[in-house]
Amino acid sequence: MNMKTEVKVVDGVYWVGAVDWNVRYFHGYTYTTPRGTTYNAYLIQDEKVALVDTVYAAFTGEMMDRIRALVDPEKIDYIIANHVETDHSGALAAMLKAAKNAKLVCNQRCKDGLEKNYFGNWDYSIVKTGDTIKLGKKTLTFLEAPMLHWPDSMFTYIPEDELLLPNDAFGQHLASTERFVEDYDEAIVMQEAAKYYANILMPMSPLITKKIEEVGKMNLKIRMIAPSHGLIWREPQKIVNAYLRWASGEADKAVLVAYDTMWTATEKMALSIVEGIRSEGVPAKLVRIPVSDRSDAIADCLLMKGILVGSSTINRGMLPSLSPFLEDLKGLRPRKKVGAAFGSFGWSGGGAESVDKILREAGVEISAEPLTVKYMPNAEELKKCFEFGRAMAQKVKA
Ligand SMILES: Cc1cc2nc3c(=O)[nH]c(=O)nc-3n(C[C@H](O)[C@H](O)[C@H](O)COP(=O)(O)O)c2cc1C
Ligand SMILES: [Fe+2]
Ligand SMILES: [Fe+2]
Repeated sequence: MNMKTEVKVVDGVYWVGAVDWNVRYFHGYTYTTPRGTTYNAYLIQDEKVALVDTVYAAFTGEMMDRIRALVDPEKIDYIIANHVETDHSGALAAMLKAAKNAKLVCNQRCKDGLEKNYFGNWDYSIVKTGDTIKLGKKTLTFLEAPMLHWPDSMFTYIPEDELLLPNDAFGQHLASTERFVEDYDEAIVMQEAAKYYANILMPMSPLITKKIEEVGKMNLKIRMIAPSHGLIWREPQKIVNAYLRWASGEADKAVLVAYDTMWTATEKMALSIVEGIRSEGVPAKLVRIPVSDRSDAIADCLLMKGILVGSSTINRGMLPSLSPFLEDLKGLRPRKKVGAAFGSFGWSGGGAESVDKILREAGVEISAEPLTVKYMPNAEELKKCFEFGRAMAQKVKA
């Protein structure tokens, strides 16, 4: 491979990660990654040499080549593990073998997690918030960030460079030849960052607000944020402000209409609902689950204030194809949402009612009783659907 593949982040700090062009699902099959991803690791060269995080095991060779182009791995003094999860620790065992003089630096929860994942007998050095390692001119400062997004999550900060390495926070699943946000299409980066936040960080929103406030109070100067996935932020305020907004639950005055149908009755309802929403000048987005991307629909739930979900009835309940989306939503607990359920039925009913129950469990403020129609909606019923959409739009505007 090309030996000159490392990228300078700032003087003495290099990106030595790997680009995964092919991955299309993350966390098993829970999250779609249509643009692939990267696993970012950073090599810091000073009097002492440190490596911050590693990559997914399959990419060990790619990372190792990048490191070797800069330094003999035996010269590495510290390997920092900011996070246990395997996409960042998978190459640790191989790395520790090659970097045989390195200490493995992490917090206690990370050590516990690494031991339970890899069963390695490694040379740990345990750190906590406020601890530092002097590398020469540069200092590594550690800031624990429990539950952002795992108990072990930690940020590494280099004050001399005003560089924050926050691991999974502020990341995006996006494979690219560019390494900096400003060199890429920023709208796409922001969209992927929102999808990442929605699908991974949304339930931790209160903690995110707190953590950003805490960092603000510490007066840490941050000139650059280099996350563990995707591109590096040279204008970090963009993503920090976006996180503050997303964490607050503030969203666009717009409505997502997500549905599934067997014989189009519920779809006809959905189309009239969308017309009703738009008649109020409120944007509406219609997605059919499961043909539309479920993880994108979750991102829409972050970005839009209103959520309407439609299902016809099957065996007295909702269509099982909607379950992954609704289960996801329930676990992710979006803040400050208004919503309602709708759908067609034949005799007993139960589809829309099941959706209504899960929306409530997800913490959505229910603005109307489920709107149901027997078999195909007639003109009068379609009018009701239109009005249902209008009422939702008014609620979202208020
Ligand atoms: C396999 C199957 C099971 C169904 N089970 C129920 C049921 O338990 N209760 C009910 O009210 N309707 C039931 N229905 C009727 C549908 O809900 C009804 O046909 C509805 O109009 C379908 O709407 P859709 O075209 O949006 O899928 C069932 C339909 C099918 C095909
Ligand atoms: Fe993670
Ligand atoms: Fe990750």
